[in-house]
Amino acid sequence: MITRVVKAVGDPVADRKVMEEAAGIIKAGGLVAIPTETVYGLAGNALDPASAKRIYAAKGRPSDNPLIVHIARLEDIDTIAGDIPEEAYKLAERFWPGPLTMIFHKKDIVPRETTGGLETVAVRFPVNKIAQEFILASGGFIAAPSANVSGRPSCTTAAHCMEDLDGRVEMIIDGGEVGIGLESTIVDMTVKPPCILRQGYINTQMLKEVLDGIDRAEGEATAKEHPKAPGMKYRHYAPKGRLTIVRGNTEGVANEINRLVRERERDGYITAVIAAHENKDRYEGAIVKDIGSLRDEDMIAHRLFAVLRELDDAGVEYIYSESFDTPRLGEAIMDRLLRASGNSIHEIKEEC
Ligand code: TXA
Ligand code: MG
Repeated sequence: MITRVVKAVGDPVADRKVMEEAAGIIKAGGLVAIPTETVYGLAGNALDPASAKRIYAAKGRPSDNPLIVHIARLEDIDTIAGDIPEEAYKLAERFWPGPLTMIFHKKDIVPRETTGGLETVAVRFPVNKIAQEFILASGGFIAAPSANVSGRPSCTTAAHCMEDLDGRVEMIIDGGEVGIGLESTIVDMTVKPPCILRQGYINTQMLKEVLDGIDRAEGEATAKEHPKAPGMKYRHYAPKGRLTIVRGNTEGVANEINRLVRERERDGYITAVIAAHENKDRYEGAIVKDIGSLRDEDMIAHRLFAVLRELDDAGVEYIYSESFDTPRLGEAIMDRLLRASGNSIHEIKEEC
């Protein structure tokens, strides 16, 4: 299959031809990679079991890992979901369109192939204009997991999509770099109180401002046997090199990472360090990736997946990362980093 990459700008008039073509592909059961505000998605018709199967095959994803259904009109939620609690409308009013996914009981129109066999459906209304135009042109209900091949870091550019999906999808819509860079926050609305299944840009504090109570599932990085979001049980975002996170006071972390780097370099391995802008000059002997300033956590979130891919491209075998426990996005950033490391975290004890 030839994969075409086409540009879109988020203007219905300028994008008309692209959207017509993309919608034709979706309606014929094909696949299109699309930008959203979080990460690129691998899109197919959510109401067609055969399209869902093609998504799993293209992504190399186990078919018990459900897909998020994307809509572009609030009222469309009633077509696919039932028993929607009042609190969901409050969240929708505050955060939709935007990087929030809510889980509801599904209606029969949604095939089990899309929901990985579950009786629930995850629904998201993205704010990205290109995504919205595409969803509406394609019939209103789009299943889209993150566009990466299963296990690889999520895609934040069309070039990343091409690396993973060339020959596996009919089209990639290039809408430039995504804004946020981390996947949506997922909240299960079928339980009381609602339960956060995946951390994202909409953080716990923001959800608490709208909801009376909220639970948090066991950390995605650590849930193994029966996680509430089936995707949590799979290793995610894994770079090819072995990633270890080192956490503690700045100087202790730098000393320990430099020691580990020296050890690996002595054995002939290619090593890299992921460091905050403020600390990058503390490291020596390895490739040093400046992920952004600790005062700009949006940038750290935005760069994380791209940095992991750059380290793959450089053939790095051992990666040491600082910990980024920033106030607003720290939970989401560390969730992704921990999973990328397979939970390999090294705590430096304060010396007294
Ligand atoms: O930001 C995002 O959410 C991106 C963009 C493309 O919209 N999509 C995304 O999809 O991250 P994906 O498939 O990579 O991650 C969806 C997660 C998986 O962990 C999956 O198990 C969980 O959502 N999920 C989907 N439907 C579910 C359901 N009915 N119940 C529980 N978890 C569900
Ligand atoms: Mg994913």
